[in-house]
Amino acid sequence: MSAGPRRIFSGIQPTGRKHLGNYIGAIRQYVEGQESADAGAGELAIYCIVDLHAITVAYDPEELRERVHDTTAILLAAGLDPERCVLFRQGDVRQHTELCWLLGGVTAWGDLNRMTQWKVKREQIEQQTGAFVSAGLFNYPVLQAADVLAYRATEVPVGDDQRQHIELTREIARRFNERFGPTLVEPEHVIPGVGARIMDLQDPMSKMSTTAGGESGRVYVLDEPDAIRKKFRSAVTDSGREVRRGGPEGGKEGIENLIEILCVVRGAGPEEIETEFEGRGYGDFKSAVGDAVADFLAPVRERYAELRSDPGELERTLAAGAESARAIAEPVLADVRDAMGVAAPR
Ligand code: AMP
Ligand code: TRP
Repeated sequence: MSAGPRRIFSGIQPTGRKHLGNYIGAIRQYVEGQESADAGAGELAIYCIVDLHAITVAYDPEELRERVHDTTAILLAAGLDPERCVLFRQGDVRQHTELCWLLGGVTAWGDLNRMTQWKVKREQIEQQTGAFVSAGLFNYPVLQAADVLAYRATEVPVGDDQRQHIELTREIARRFNERFGPTLVEPEHVIPGVGARIMDLQDPMSKMSTTAGGESGRVYVLDEPDAIRKKFRSAVTDSGREVRRGGPEGGKEGIENLIEILCVVRGAGPEEIETEFEGRGYGDFKSAVGDAVADFLAPVRERYAELRSDPGELERTLAAGAESARAIAEPVLADVRDAMGVAAPR
């Protein structure tokens, strides 16, 4: 299937408390995608809040509804504009679940079993008492492939941890097209050069994560400025003094992470930052990064408060988004059913 005009698609989980890694690795790119999509040339950016992915681990139904609103408000506060992109909730558009089932026929069980996220999450769950590992968690990447392929997306902006899932999405599209004829588009992942993997402030060998690590290693988009400064002041570094990136021998991951964060927030290069902090020590540097991040996130937090206070308006935005999404996905589903010899719905 030859790709049409540029079409950007990404999904984000409704965990409400989005962290700096999500913001820098993904959300920042969503806004850039919206800004750079040329509507006149038929280009479009589509963003989905994936409530159906969230039900693959233990959760509370009422809370899920609230978290979808939290995440919608964060995305809008970050700069997504429903007039210029499609923003919707996955569960509102039935084509995702339908395509997920159909794609199950061209997804290798062995590929799913090799996914790092599956292996890590499964292990995390199995360590808890009363552990329940759902079949949905295993199938998670098929639904993700359906999300992307239902829109014939050409680009998928994500953080580094989603690289493997997008590679599998391409494999699924490839296998489908080989078996049933050219129908789906193989998308490219778009992973930022800087900030694709923000590390935990207390454990700079692990990525900042919603589920792993403690509160003090994770900076939330909605944290108060003082809380942000405090987390950066107590960030784990190393026994050195120079604000410099380390070599391949490692040992400087904490400082490297802070340099990377400051690069993104300031729009500067790492050399510039190293020069600025020459001879100034880690304490000074950590305070500067904390101040910069607090200033960077403050406007988002303020806009969030306003948007989140009107759930009716958030629902209207999601409903309009779902209608646009459905109009794009429905003809793709018709093509998929037809190619597979599955009856059209009636
Ligand atoms: P999630 O909250 O798991 O739906 O993730 C949303 C997006 O944030 C995905 O594109 C992830 O790849 C990205 N992401 C998650 N954690 C990080 C991190 N520590 N650094 C950079 N990007 C991240
Ligand atoms: N699995 C992704 C994450 O945890 C979220 C996601 C679901 C997604 N569907 C997607 C990302 C489609 C990109 C495209 O971050």
